Amino acid sequence: MLRDVGTTLGELTKSQLRNLCRVVGIDADEPVRLLGGVLGAADSRPLSEPPLWPSDVADDATPIEFSVQFDDNGARHLRILAETLPAHPGPAANLRAARNLIDDLADRYDLSLDRLRAVQDLFSGTDPQGKFSWWFSFIFDADGTPKFKMYFNPEVSGAEAAPALVAEAFERLGMADAYRTVSKYALQRGELDRLSFFALDLDHSRQSRVKLYIGHHAAQADDVEFAASAVPGIDPAQVREFCSLLAGDTPVFRGRPLISSYSFVEGDQDKPSNYSLYMPIRDYVRDDAVARERLQRHLRQHRISPALLDEVIAAVTDRELAANAGLLAHVSLRLSPNRTGTTVYVSSEAYGGTHRQAR
Ligand code: TRP
Repeated sequence: MLRDVGTTLGELTKSQLRNLCRVVGIDADEPVRLLGGVLGAADSRPLSEPPLWPSDVADDATPIEFSVQFDDNGARHLRILAETLPAHPGPAANLRAARNLIDDLADRYDLSLDRLRAVQDLFSGTDPQGKFSWWFSFIFDADGTPKFKMYFNPEVSGAEAAPALVAEAFERLGMADAYRTVSKYALQRGELDRLSFFALDLDHSRQSRVKLYIGHHAAQADDVEFAASAVPGIDPAQVREFCSLLAGDTPVFRGRPLISSYSFVEGDQDKPSNYSLYMPIRDYVRDDAVARERLQRHLRQHRISPALLDEVIAAVTDRELAANAGLLAHVSLRLSPNRTGTTVYVSSEAYGGTHRQAR
């Protein structure tokens, strides 16, 4: 990888992104431009300097993370998750930078901002708490056209306020029942089930989603299988198989939590349109070589070419996979009544990757 003295965060991550665009077969110009914009003040920072801000997007404080979504029907999407950073970061300054970036993007793209405007004050504490306030996701389809998604921190006004805040957000979006549905299936374990993210698609389509993510601490496969049963017409047993294939025989997930998400679209509140399970695989494998092997078995079962995974890995790193865990940060399985998809979250490791723990 290109990492000479003086290499900047922008140079490294843009070269990774160009490679990923080649693997997925899309033109890199627009993705690279968007990446530069969202990196903000971190773009030109030499990697020899410490991270500008301890971003929770990735374990090593890199403020972006790549992911590749493989649909069982053959579609591929490249995505970037990012926290935008101002020159003088801090909780309030980062939130301001995110709001400014939305305004910039809205000047250049046809964004649907009604839902965002309806709930943004809820997720904009004057003294933002927690690990972040707003994150961005750019999703590129086959011709490189971006779609935009925002993630909000339900704990921005403190952990105790999160449930009421999320309930109010759904209410304002005309989806009051959605929160009741989620509570019944995914918030039954007291403090062990925590609201992680509230997210909105910013496109005009009727399929534009409102999503809620729940982190299940110290959970078992049974818990997430039950969480999946909120969605009619899918097979929750697939969630259990996914857990056992990717995490071996982990009886209780005591590392980073399993995460559930539910998507709601207009007019569809008591029945979420899909369920996804996010497995923080890095905490349940010895190293990335093991993660790769397990993931390849999963991909084969879903008739997705395992060679594609190797191309994705080679696009971002040339390190020995057995040297650490965390390049493959999460793997998610999305289940909807007529489609299944797998998403692989790949770390840039710009700042050295996941800190190696004694295993
Ligand atoms: N780094 C955080 C975590 O691991 C947030 C995050 C980044 C995340 N990408 C993700 C969470 C993908 C779930 C899925 O929790």
